[in-house]
Amino acid sequence: MTEPITYPLDIAAIRADFPILDQEVHPGKRLVFLDSAASSQKPRQVIEAMRRYYEHDHANVHRGIHVLSERATAAYEGAREKVRAFINARSSREIIFTRNTTEGINLVAHTWGRANLRPGDVVVLSEMEHHSNIVPWQILAEQIGFRLRYIPITDEGLLDLDAYAALLRDEPVKLVSVMHVSNVLGTVNPVKEMIAQAHAAGALFLVDGAQSVPHLAVDVQALDVDFLAFSGHKMAGPTGIGVLYGKRALLEAMPPFLGGGEMIKRVTLEGSTWNDLPHKFEAGTPAIAQAVGLGAAVDYLSGLGMDNILAHEKLVVDYALDRLSEIPGLTLYGPGPEHRNGVAAFTLQDVHAHDIAQLLDAEGVAVRAGHHCAMPLHKRLGVVATARASFYIYNTRDEVDALVEAIYNARRVFRLGG
Ligand SMILES: Cc1ncc(COP(=O)(O)O)c(C=O)c1O
Repeated sequence: MTEPITYPLDIAAIRADFPILDQEVHPGKRLVFLDSAASSQKPRQVIEAMRRYYEHDHANVHRGIHVLSERATAAYEGAREKVRAFINARSSREIIFTRNTTEGINLVAHTWGRANLRPGDVVVLSEMEHHSNIVPWQILAEQIGFRLRYIPITDEGLLDLDAYAALLRDEPVKLVSVMHVSNVLGTVNPVKEMIAQAHAAGALFLVDGAQSVPHLAVDVQALDVDFLAFSGHKMAGPTGIGVLYGKRALLEAMPPFLGGGEMIKRVTLEGSTWNDLPHKFEAGTPAIAQAVGLGAAVDYLSGLGMDNILAHEKLVVDYALDRLSEIPGLTLYGPGPEHRNGVAAFTLQDVHAHDIAQLLDAEGVAVRAGHHCAMPLHKRLGVVATARASFYIYNTRDEVDALVEAIYNARRVFRLGG
């Protein structure tokens, strides 16, 4: 059982901020929510900010000359400024609101990619990518005729950096697009060094920050990253809002993504001109309340401190890795604690991951099972599916104990012994 531990955060206060956590999901079974990598829960502060916005301030943004439209615009643009400060972008013009990480990556592919990629060029991805950072490039590669090359992973679950250096040396690489933290292996990739290497080779770098921005301080200027995409719903914010950061000069030079209202300066029947950043990339009525919610989530995470969040999660994840590795027949995927954050994916002998997840759910423990939108990675690991426990600011070591107990129970059900 858990030894008494001092968390760097006031965990009782945090848990009290997340009303959803305080429930039984089956008779006598309290919820143990270990699925935040798929989507995190939302604190009252976020829910309340959105409720207040709808009850007092809602109107469409930017176009109205009445009080509510001005308030809505201030709330929407205020959220953009909060996000700017959170990732230390130079200008809020560099913050494009999208629906999610997936849309941010597609935006870069279909605007920067179409304008800059030619037959014979190379885009470098990695073997551990989420489908959202593979499929948009495959679609475009088929249309344009550029080539995709993949950084392989080592048996430990790290990117093979020698192979990466060789790709940059030997191929006409125009763009590298790689995840910061793996949603399956938990690997924290050394993106700062990788970005410097890509730039030295004349390539741009896109970071998929879906699993890093919610969990650790990401400073776009310190990284010198060209594009960063992330999702609000994985960082205590609402669904339906995400962010694409891009360096201003790159965004200025890119053609628009979607066409419509808001993104134009002037429209005639003969043609149109584009609005200034960031509006050039935000066609139509945006997700205003969701942006307000994301702003509140940024305030919430900043209030806790990203370094404290990382330290808290490390205490929980390291403990989970220790305890899970004691379980007979359980295989853990991914590197050791020094290279990892946030998630623990595993298999249990030849029991299908869905069956494990179902038995854990019966005990109140919510984990995800499947390929986690990373089929090529699972092929590399030699399994069709894994069960994945993922952790966030509200999880405790006691919940890791509940997970481990539930896995032992699953072992008994499947008569695996132990
Ligand atoms: C690493 C990574 N990239 C991209 C995504 C896609 O995020 P979204 O579905 O919010 O676009 C996810 C979601 O799980 C992810 O884990």
